[in-house]
Amino acid sequence: MDIGAGSGKFTSVLVEKFPKSHIYAVEPVSNFIDILNTKFGSNKNVSIIQDEVSHLLSNSAFKRNSLDGIFGAQCFHWFATRSSLEVFHALLKPKGYLFLIWNRQTYDANNFLKELKSQIIPIYDDEEKLKSIKYTKLRPHILDLFAPNDLFSRVTNFITFKDAVVQRGKIDIVIDRVLSKSTFGVRSPQERNEITKNDSRFGH
Ligand SMILES: C[S@@+](CC[C@H](N)C(=O)[O-])C[C@H]1O[C@@H](n2cnc3c(N)ncnc32)[C@H](O)[C@@H]1O
Repeated sequence: MDIGAGSGKFTSVLVEKFPKSHIYAVEPVSNFIDILNTKFGSNKNVSIIQDEVSHLLSNSAFKRNSLDGIFGAQCFHWFATRSSLEVFHALLKPKGYLFLIWNRQTYDANNFLKELKSQIIPIYDDEEKLKSIKYTKLRPHILDLFAPNDLFSRVTNFITFKDAVVQRGKIDIVIDRVLSKSTFGVRSPQERNEITKNDSRFGH
């Protein structure tokens, strides 16, 4: 299962790495479901299911003790609770695995990213606004959830896969990705428009 599949970036990785497995891409948001249907609708090995973690045990698509693995890419912080772990534990086979993945951006891949890191982000970084983002505060809470417990044992602390996913796109996609960084994400839509309009380094 790819929980919180979003637009299917990580689903694509699973499809490629596990061509013989059946993959359930689970996502609550309708717009993402449409994208998942476009990407994987014709793939017999992928079931696209609109649902969210807390309802999964009453979803007839899933049986208890049936899944080999549950992957949550860049999403566990949205539902990092003991009750979510209980749901995952109930759905997994006794020797099943829960994989939690977060992306880390590399800035050394090309000149655009190098310039973004050295020249653009420092100008717009706003410590106070960034401090207000809740997920940074959630990290210790996530680790606490995996303190020795009766549901999951931690087999490893962290593994890093370097350059596992490379995103490519035209300039509007690049700008969209840059603006989704928390540095810019904490600003109002108007402020973000102003920044891209006035700063020629945003690819204009
Ligand atoms: C940042 S996106 C990550 C998408 C995708 N996994 C990826 O790696 O690109 C987080 C996703 O988690 C989903 N999500 C948030 N709360 C959820 C919940 N309670 N149950 C399932 N998915 C949830 C969101 O709708 C969103 O698509």
